[in-house]
Amino acid sequence: MAYDLIIANGTIVSPQGQEIADVAIRGEKIVSVGKGLARPGEATRVVDAAGKYVIPGGLDVHVHLELPFCGTVSSDDWLTGTRAAARGGVTTVIDFAIPYGQQSLDDAYHAWLERAKPKACIDYAFHMAITNWDRHGPEMEKMVAKGCPTFKEFMIYAAEGWQSDDRAIFNALEKVKKLNGMLLVHAESARVLDELIARYHTPELMKKHGATLHAVTRPNFIEAEAIQRAIFWSQATGGQLYIVHMSTGEGADIVKAARARGINVYAETCVQYLLLDDSVFASPDGHLFACCPQVKKPKDIDRLWKGVNDGEVCVISTDTCTFTRAQKARWEGDFTKIPMGLPGLETMLPLVYTKGVLGGKMPITRFVEKCCANPARIMGLYPRKGVLQAGSDADVVIFDPKKEMVVDHATMETGADWNPYQGWSLAGFAEHTFCRGKQIVDNYKCIGEKGWGQWLPRERAGTL
Ligand code: URP
Ligand code: ZN
Ligand code: ZN
Repeated sequence: MAYDLIIANGTIVSPQGQEIADVAIRGEKIVSVGKGLARPGEATRVVDAAGKYVIPGGLDVHVHLELPFCGTVSSDDWLTGTRAAARGGVTTVIDFAIPYGQQSLDDAYHAWLERAKPKACIDYAFHMAITNWDRHGPEMEKMVAKGCPTFKEFMIYAAEGWQSDDRAIFNALEKVKKLNGMLLVHAESARVLDELIARYHTPELMKKHGATLHAVTRPNFIEAEAIQRAIFWSQATGGQLYIVHMSTGEGADIVKAARARGINVYAETCVQYLLLDDSVFASPDGHLFACCPQVKKPKDIDRLWKGVNDGEVCVISTDTCTFTRAQKARWEGDFTKIPMGLPGLETMLPLVYTKGVLGGKMPITRFVEKCCANPARIMGLYPRKGVLQAGSDADVVIFDPKKEMVVDHATMETGADWNPYQGWSLAGFAEHTFCRGKQIVDNYKCIGEKGWGQWLPRERAGTL
């Protein structure tokens, strides 16, 4: 047989357009994409995708699986997290390897690999978090040589020991310029944020306002000022900057203006910032929705969707960092103690497809651009990932545009006993998912194999 598998007659979508064609796979690779490939006797197996969309496996380039954070460990581990991803049509994740205490970047890489390797059922890579410039700066070159060209600095999280100051950000940007790497920045203005938190952190105000204080203490200027500052350092050094989880309209305006001035800053937003607003904090379960940065206002949602279409938002991701109800309950009425983060991997593509494409906010080609092609390009994984073409990994998702399913945490793969989108009816769940030619979702059921996922070395950070 010429091929192991042909996915026949599906509507293949790329950022450039869509056409009805076949995808032919041998082993772990796509070997041909075109019409009329599915002739009798050509393939061991033929999957009929007529009437279905066929897209490259999604990439979620911002996840935190089994992350020690906020005094606990995020509850989606490398097994539940990657099974959830597969069911949602995501075949590659990039997590953040964070050094703790005196650890080196290489120690963090090994700690993350040790957890991921035996459990992951989809492919993965790591961004390396710089938590101590003087220790980690000199280690960056070695990590690039090893296949990790993307680094991360957090402007906040002093209590976790993760915080970077302007000196660290300036230096890291200078360094990534030399190394063909990229710096990802969590942009929130720490000094003013801490001041606002201190003002509201009283028993009386906490009793009165509950989880809404999580939003009250993080007005939009907290993110906007920090994005502006990071862009300034990027301009000064020429270092490639990527703003993670941008949540504000102001941020989108600033990124757009910078790009218009010729600064090649990239910005990602996450699904929650496109769909949820801060009214969620007023509900009795409001604390469950705390993530960092928090979801903002309807006007921010509108501006971010515009950014997705106009280009200043290059990537959609999830920032998956799942906590159970019991973990979230650790807050006991104190908004500074809520474990921050949301489940997201399983619903990323269905939410963006349903609310974005079916909701009339963007064409299906853009959906593939923002969730597959762009993240692969920017993170240095293209054309291995993010595209259906000869030579690419056979990461393929088939979904039925008409099949809706109701989000219910009880029936999901994610290790969460709640879901921000509980009860929402969504199309776009993967009917079949293939990762490097291996079927990991069959008829909406995850059949992913523990340990199938491979770590993906990357030569350099990419460009669009
Ligand atoms: O709430 C979030 N986002 N938790 C994970 C840490 C981060 O800032 O990405
Ligand atoms: Zn962050
Ligand atoms: Zn994150």
